[in-house]
Amino acid sequence: MRVRWTACTFVLLVFVHQSLALNHDPIRDFCRRFGHQTAIIDQTLYIHGGQLNYNPMTEDAANYTNNLLLYQDLSALTSSGMPPLYANLTSNISVPSVSGGILWADNVNKRIYLFGGEYTDDQPREEGKSYNYDALNKVWTASDRPRPGIQGVSYGAGISVSDRGEGYYYGGWLSNGSVAGWSGPAGMTNGLVKYTYDTDAWTNITGPDDVGRAEGVMMYIPASDGGMLIYFGGIKDEFRNGTARWQDMQEIFVYDVLSSKWYSQNATGDIPGQRRRFCGGVMWAADQSSYNIYIYGGASPPPSTSGYDDVYILTIPTFTWIKAYPNTTNETGEFPHHSLSCNVVSQGQMLIIGGSFPLSSTCDVPAQFGTHNLDLGQQNPEKAWWQLFRPNLTTYAVPDAVVGVVGGGPAGDKAKTAPGTPYMQEPPEGETWTPLSSPFSHTSIVPSRQRQQAYELPAENGIPAELQSPDGSYLTTTTTQDGTVYKVDEQGRVWVTKASPTAPSAGLHSASLHGSGGGYGYSPVASSSPPPSTQPLELSTGPRSPVDEHALAQAQGAWGAGSPHGSQGRVHETYYHP
Ligand SMILES: *[C@@H]1O[C@H](CO)[C@@H](O)[C@H](O)[C@H]1NC(C)=O
Ligand SMILES: *[C@@H]1O[C@H](CO)[C@@H](O)[C@H](O)[C@H]1NC(C)=O
Ligand SMILES: *[C@@H]1O[C@H](CO)[C@@H](O)[C@H](O)[C@H]1NC(C)=O
Ligand SMILES: *[C@@H]1O[C@H](CO)[C@@H](O)[C@H](O)[C@H]1NC(C)=O
Ligand SMILES: *[C@@H]1O[C@H](CO)[C@@H](O)[C@H](O)[C@H]1NC(C)=O
Ligand SMILES: *[C@@H]1O[C@H](CO)[C@@H](O)[C@H](O)[C@H]1NC(C)=O
Ligand SMILES: *[C@@H]1O[C@H](CO)[C@@H](O)[C@H](O)[C@H]1NC(C)=O
Ligand SMILES: *[C@@H]1O[C@H](CO)[C@@H](O)[C@H](O)[C@H]1NC(C)=O
Ligand SMILES: *[C@@H]1O[C@H](CO)[C@@H](O)[C@H](O)[C@H]1NC(C)=O
Ligand SMILES: *[C@@H]1O[C@H](CO)[C@@H](O)[C@H](O)[C@H]1NC(C)=O
Repeated sequence: MRVRWTACTFVLLVFVHQSLALNHDPIRDFCRRFGHQTAIIDQTLYIHGGQLNYNPMTEDAANYTNNLLLYQDLSALTSSGMPPLYANLTSNISVPSVSGGILWADNVNKRIYLFGGEYTDDQPREEGKSYNYDALNKVWTASDRPRPGIQGVSYGAGISVSDRGEGYYYGGWLSNGSVAGWSGPAGMTNGLVKYTYDTDAWTNITGPDDVGRAEGVMMYIPASDGGMLIYFGGIKDEFRNGTARWQDMQEIFVYDVLSSKWYSQNATGDIPGQRRRFCGGVMWAADQSSYNIYIYGGASPPPSTSGYDDVYILTIPTFTWIKAYPNTTNETGEFPHHSLSCNVVSQGQMLIIGGSFPLSSTCDVPAQFGTHNLDLGQQNPEKAWWQLFRPNLTTYAVPDAVVGVVGGGPAGDKAKTAPGTPYMQEPPEGETWTPLSSPFSHTSIVPSRQRQQAYELPAENGIPAELQSPDGSYLTTTTTQDGTVYKVDEQGRVWVTKASPTAPSAGLHSASLHGSGGGYGYSPVASSSPPPSTQPLELSTGPRSPVDEHALAQAQGAWGAGSPHGSQGRVHETYYHP
């Protein structure tokens, strides 16, 4: 039976000294950091906001606000074996220093966008204002672009999809720490905030259901045609009355970006203990036969809220949890901590920085600035998980623990690609929201290169009935440069109309996702004659097409006059399967 806890139990009381720590050096006197935001642009890992403790904590245990934009140079090492930390970027006091927000990294335009987070008591809550940092010119810019329906929110789950030019943030707390004029207890939200970098535009998309959630983790995997967001963990306001409950780690929410549709899938294997304020990173096999999400740490449910010092891997599409560390009898590890950051660097490694350690008051390896490194593929002679950082490790290998479950090898070859039994989620009693089901079935899971041949749907006047939307509307319509039109209908199906100069009015064709015997759940692909050689598009776990670097380079400078960000820089292009 689960223990219930009131929402306010989870709002950690953070007392922040108002005094600027003038005598403290952010590098030399470093003891701990937590609640901070990180983002990587090229070879630089930026750290912004969050809280700090200075060395020694026995003399001063106060939590200070980090008012600086710090960075670690990922191409270099200190004698302690970690990337050096610098505090020499000009600070900008007009940019708020928050905890529990997100820094979305845009590696196309070399910018970082700051969203969400809790302010300290002395900072004014500036709703509607957002900030971005131009890493090339080292300046911050503020934007007043309206964000209708989007309030300040903290400790939600954020992720940047740099190659799509989109940032996402699911759930989180609305509280007096993030919303101007908020009174009363903090509440969890159920929306998915989407920010489009090039247009500086905000939307609040509905979540998987109407349950508020916070303090979980969201990842992006380049599967299916627009990619997928994967969310799990944290806590939820299941009864919509402010009573928080823990989210089971087996329950995985999947958001298909192109069709704007949510699914849920139960994972199997070594299900990690329930947790919040943990962090994660993802890498995939070279052939994208498995996407492996690594998670670390977090705070745990009572009675022992101290949390975890452990590593688990969620491998997709089999949706199996695998315990990676520790392998000793102490299941949770010796140094539990939470409110930390994870960043995958150049495929092979994940830097885990900082954290709040409830059980100790010792500093977090000051010589390494609280930076720890997980070797994601155990590509070292000892096959160890924890290693000093290696700037020249730039490849990923599927670790033995994952190969042992999905088969194949370090590059992924011949790995299993079927998930556990798909699960149709039932709405709670008395509720009528749309049920979610697994995005995958045993037949749809095969990589795109193995998919079934296309067949033609019965069509009326050359147009399949499915393409005749009742009200003629579609959720999204995208036209690519070659004139191909992608439409997603209310059922989440993707329709593709290929422009063909030779036969502009020819009939439309569609293809089955489930093979010729199927007749259900097809993913219609409409195209002008001749019948398409393209394969069906919906919810493949196969890889997205590689980014066309040439097209990307051509787009350089396309932010013209009138762009919300000024007239320089690149724009994002969205790529789909050919
Ligand atoms: C500092 O922050 C941590 C984590 O929120 C909290 O547990 C601790 O009580 C705070 N310390 C002080 C002195 O306020
Ligand atoms: C910060 O210091 C490092 C090391 O001295 C130097 O390489 C870097 O250029 C400096 N950055 C700035 C912005 O001054
Ligand atoms: C500081 O931020 C403000 C926006 O709040 C911006 O106008 C100004 O140029 C920034 N200054 C620097 C040095 O980044
Ligand atoms: C997004 O919209 C939902 C539904 O209106 C709302 O409950 C939620 O607070 C909004 N999210 C944010 C961050 O404001
Ligand atoms: C925010 O709310 C908490 C209780 O929910 C209260 O202790 C705190 O003083 C409030 N802070 C501000 C700035 O109003
Ligand atoms: C919320 O609803 C649950 C289930 O009905 C109940 O157990 C809990 O006490 C309620 N919490 C509050 C604050 O009313
Ligand atoms: C899936 O997980 C949810 C949440 O833990 C649970 O309620 C449900 O029974 C599970 N369903 C199956 C089929 O295991
Ligand atoms: C645990 O891992 C260590 C290396 O990380 C290895 O030497 C040891 O044999 C493992 N123990 C068990 C019980 O698997
Ligand atoms: C595991 O480590 C934690 C943290 O050091 C400690 O509190 C706990 O007692 C240990 N458990 C066992 C079974 O040794
Ligand atoms: C990476 O650098 C280390 C230390 O300089 C060296 O031993 C190793 O061979 C290098 N690895 C590769 C793949 O270049």
